Amino acid sequence: MMEIKNLPRHVAIIMDGNGRWARLRNLPRIEGHITGIESVREVVKTTKELNIPFLTLYAFSKENWNRPESEVRKLLELLELYLDKDYPLLMENNIRFKAIGEIEDFPENIQKKIEWVMEETDKNSSLTLTVALSYSGRSEIIRAVKEILKDAKVGKIEDIDEQSFKKYLYTKDLPDPDLLIRTSGEKRVSNFLLYQMAYTEIYVTDTLWPDFRKKEYLEALADYARRERRFGTVKEDSSG
Ligand code: IPE
Ligand code: IPE
Ligand code: MG
Repeated sequence: MMEIKNLPRHVAIIMDGNGRWARLRNLPRIEGHITGIESVREVVKTTKELNIPFLTLYAFSKENWNRPESEVRKLLELLELYLDKDYPLLMENNIRFKAIGEIEDFPENIQKKIEWVMEETDKNSSLTLTVALSYSGRSEIIRAVKEILKDAKVGKIEDIDEQSFKKYLYTKDLPDPDLLIRTSGEKRVSNFLLYQMAYTEIYVTDTLWPDFRKKEYLEALADYARRERRFGTVKEDSSG
């Protein structure tokens, strides 16, 4: 594996363009999602090989429930298939699987499967693979506010700061993403990790998700490596 300097610690990806990929080939949209799973596997494998400790994938948004019933149903089937098929791969590779989002929206059998994979992989330590499912950044923030109001321990307004607020987010155990990749050329965040992306570097590629493989991923990482992150400050000597 080639040496890349300045790797991000946490990569987040909006996996977009499956439908267009299928459309271009006169295939049903689901074929794009199926091939997209191959991209997931390749990106997960590469992330692990590079020793990047956190990868977060946007797989299904809260808004995606509004798609035609047949597409939603097939996506649920694919999710189940992925969990069944890739569970051994996660174990072999010491990968911890974590789901974020409103998991209670899913049918009970899928909820159970998600929880089971999370429990079984909980002790794995090489990479934390977080998958956003029925996720909405706004809902996550509203949910956090509700939890805070319920929580007697944080009764005092003065006790709410960035550090304590973070504990109420799904991502409480994750660092903020360093790099956000969005495929298929759309330049928007579509309700993903709104709070967490305050200083995330954004990389948009026209490549459609099913075509986004190791080569394209390494290009995104190389682009990130050249960025200068400032976090609102100035570069060492720009006093003139
Ligand atoms: C991303 O691909 C996968 C999901 C949102 C589930 P799309 O299904 O959004 O594909 P396009 O954007 O229509 O091409
Ligand atoms: C964002 O893609 C959600 C996921 C990739 C899971 P969408 O295709 O749903 O987003 P919009 O509708 O183009 O903003
Ligand atoms: Mg899309």
